[in-house]
Amino acid sequence: MPWPLIKQLHVAFALLTVCSFCLRGYWMLSRSPRLQASWSRWLPHVIDALLFATGLAMAIGLSISPLTHPWLAVKLLAIVVYIIIGSIALKRGRTRGQRVAALLLSLLVLIVIFAVALHHDPWAGLR
Ligand code: HEM
Repeated sequence: MPWPLIKQLHVAFALLTVCSFCLRGYWMLSRSPRLQASWSRWLPHVIDALLFATGLAMAIGLSISPLTHPWLAVKLLAIVVYIIIGSIALKRGRTRGQRVAALLLSLLVLIVIFAVALHHDPWAGLR
């Protein structure tokens, strides 16, 4: 498969992840039972797995390593932070306040991930 196509797929899965996270965030805020539906639990994992697989394929194929490309290291670190805060927002937060704060923080971290990826710069183009 040619790299531009894999990159397009990666970006499409990245946008799908954002849409799915925003939708589940809205369901959390509106206390919708849809948040607990079985498909709304497994579908995001499928999208995330495809996002990760296409990212990994590009990183290996284009010889881009977190050790040689600081922007990828920062992006992967930010993804780990996003996964932890995101799970507090949608699942593990004990109070509504905690969940809302975690939701806002996750959206901020998502913006950082996109900025770092689009600029290929660990400073997200701010420096
Ligand atoms: C929340 C997760 C992720 C988001 C939102 C995201 C977002 C993006 C975006 C928007 C681009 C396109 C940048 C451009 O147009 O130049 C991109 C490219 C890329 N991403 Fe991701 N990504 C994510 C996860 C990953 C993961 C897990 C990896 C690696 C394991 C990865 C590796 C890459 C690589 C290698 C490129 C291509 C860089 C190039 O063309 O030089 N991404 N990502």
